[in-house]
Amino acid sequence: MTGEEGAISLRGHYALGHPVIGPRPLARTRSFTRRGGRMPHTHQRAWDRLADQVVLQVPLAAGDTSTVVDPGYRLDPEQVFGRRAPLVVEVGSGAGDALVAGAAARPDHNFLALEVWRPGTGHALAKMAAVNDGQALPNVRVVEADAALALRTMLEPGTVEEVWTFFPDPWPKARHHKRRLVDPDFSDAVADLLRPGGRWRLATDWDDYAKVMRDVVGAEPRLRLESTARFPLRPVTRFERRGTEAGRRITDLAYVRLD
Ligand SMILES: C[S@@+](CC[C@H](N)C(=O)[O-])C[C@H]1O[C@@H](n2cnc3c(N)ncnc32)[C@H](O)[C@@H]1O
Repeated sequence: MTGEEGAISLRGHYALGHPVIGPRPLARTRSFTRRGGRMPHTHQRAWDRLADQVVLQVPLAAGDTSTVVDPGYRLDPEQVFGRRAPLVVEVGSGAGDALVAGAAARPDHNFLALEVWRPGTGHALAKMAAVNDGQALPNVRVVEADAALALRTMLEPGTVEEVWTFFPDPWPKARHHKRRLVDPDFSDAVADLLRPGGRWRLATDWDDYAKVMRDVVGAEPRLRLESTARFPLRPVTRFERRGTEAGRRITDLAYVRLD
């Protein structure tokens, strides 16, 4: 994203008077710049066939190309999934590895993914079709939106069973750390969403980001670190593989929402 585009988002957000943007909208919006891009043929075919069933058309705050969900929009999980079931929210589902593995392993849960990278969602749809006889998994929906903002407004507080944040963009350069997704605001939003006893599962291959996660999430009084064991449902993704090959250690963290 160029500085000029950032400036447009900044003006747009302020013009909307969004209540939860906070003092640094530019830094936040820079963490999701890859919405477009071409997809390989098989992913595009999966998108063309299955996106209508899986990718929700939600009202966007600044027109079709925005990634900001209209702050007035409330998603009704019972209505969009057609049933009542424990809800898992994955933030930044990427190419869908954990989403598809999780949804296939837990058919009794609903899975809502927030992802702004459309080619990744195309890939996720192709993976879904591969494990389900060419069909979409009925317990998965995707919203193409900035999770940091949408999670503040779109869902009812205290209603989510689990939030997954696996390998969020690391932004390794010090001057880009402010673009990282996991910060005190995001942590507060996740704590609001989880039901008592619900879990926030995180993973990263960057030690300094792991420390930030521990410090920031550890400072949230409604969340308690429960486990650092690898979450068994989390498959190895390209990001984990890349980190391991570069000699980086993988950190898993699971926090539980206190009463
Ligand atoms: C490094 S990838 C990891 C993908 C996946 N979780 C995995 O482990 O393979 C991070 C993903 O988060 C998405 N992302 C980053 N910021 C986001 C935001 N604010 N809202 C929604 N998705 C976001 C990116 O588009 C990208 O696909």
